[in-house]
Amino acid sequence: MTQALNFPPFGSQTEGKNIPPEIAENVKRLIPAYMILVESRFRAVNKLIDSRKDRLIVDLPCGYTSRGIRMYGQGRRYFGFDLPAVIHDIKPAVESIIGSNKNITYQAVDATNYASLESAFTDEDHDLLITTEGLLMYFSQYELEEVFGNIHRLLQKYGGSWVTTDRAYAFCDRDVAHAALNNDAGLTAMFEAVTSKAAATAADVKFSNNVFFDADEEKVISFVEKMGFELKKIPMSNHLPEKFGSVSGSADVSVRKVFENMYFWELSVKNTRQGQKVNDKAFSVQTKQQGGTLQLFISGRLDTLTAPELLKKFQEAQQPIEAIELHVDDMSYISSAGLRILLIMYKSLEDKSKFKMLGVSESVRDIIQTTGFDSVFF
Ligand SMILES: C[S@@+](CC[C@H](N)C(=O)[O-])C[C@H]1O[C@@H](n2cnc3c(N)ncnc32)[C@H](O)[C@@H]1O
Repeated sequence: MTQALNFPPFGSQTEGKNIPPEIAENVKRLIPAYMILVESRFRAVNKLIDSRKDRLIVDLPCGYTSRGIRMYGQGRRYFGFDLPAVIHDIKPAVESIIGSNKNITYQAVDATNYASLESAFTDEDHDLLITTEGLLMYFSQYELEEVFGNIHRLLQKYGGSWVTTDRAYAFCDRDVAHAALNNDAGLTAMFEAVTSKAAATAADVKFSNNVFFDADEEKVISFVEKMGFELKKIPMSNHLPEKFGSVSGSADVSVRKVFENMYFWELSVKNTRQGQKVNDKAFSVQTKQQGGTLQLFISGRLDTLTAPELLKKFQEAQQPIEAIELHVDDMSYISSAGLRILLIMYKSLEDKSKFKMLGVSESVRDIIQTTGFDSVFF
């Protein structure tokens, strides 16, 4: 997979850089702590998938993992869902290994966009096992509710259940990593320092900033119920491989001990959700230009999938543009990808006071305020 994806060889980023040998040595000793997190999650979910042979696997998000190849080998039906940029790379990489196969589907989606998820399935598809590893921590509360609503709708239509490891890892990942390092005080401190720095620089969103990661489990359970789901907790410790590739000996024993507190959360549809808001309006953008004023009329959802269309319209407009009016009365949602395009437009203006957003609905205003862009756009 790494070759098919054209990933640089392991360690090549540090080649030619002057890294003191003792630091390089210590960094190498940290590797099991990272590997165990990735390995245990991937293999535990594989084991769960193996125990549900009758299900169609929906890997949301699939990332750059090789699960599609594994599912192909077992003759199973598999849907790898991720953002367009990831699918653009992983689909051809997997196809270069297994060829194109009707059982293995890769599809560009945005988990907050229902239509993008549903369009992968046919009416014959039923009994899904949606697996989510490493996704829910990226969402604001509003987005989290959209995603829960979308998965509820999918399960209601196609049947099955949704399993996630995200809460287990959010609360226990440090313990797993420390156990993998044999709780060596120096290495553990170094691991803490590196991971907190990486978290601060890698993402432009606040991590785990929604109710799913609240320390009060009762609160999360009542959220899950409010969203129309029933929860079953499945011990992850029963789903670990007999041997890990990344740790052995006493570290292996301590890692397994941490897993005794870790659970898959399996959610199934309990009841039809009353009054669920459905945000299905198709996206469109129309432009009008008068002199230096560009007017854009946006309706529907402005998200990762639709933002490129808005950018294209903006780039096609006639220069010079001195003022921008965004008419968003019919815009139902905006994601960070959409906000980035607005920022590009805003920055292009010499006189920033000539950027206007008109007809902003309450829900869109909420998102813009939560992300802190209100001081720019309003
Ligand atoms: C931490 S990775 C996890 C990937 C994979 N499950 C794994 O274990 O390696 C997070 C993935 O979530 C995807 N992602 C982030 N926001 C998303 C969204 N709104 N819809 C779908 N995928 C999303 C990213 O593109 C990325 O591939």
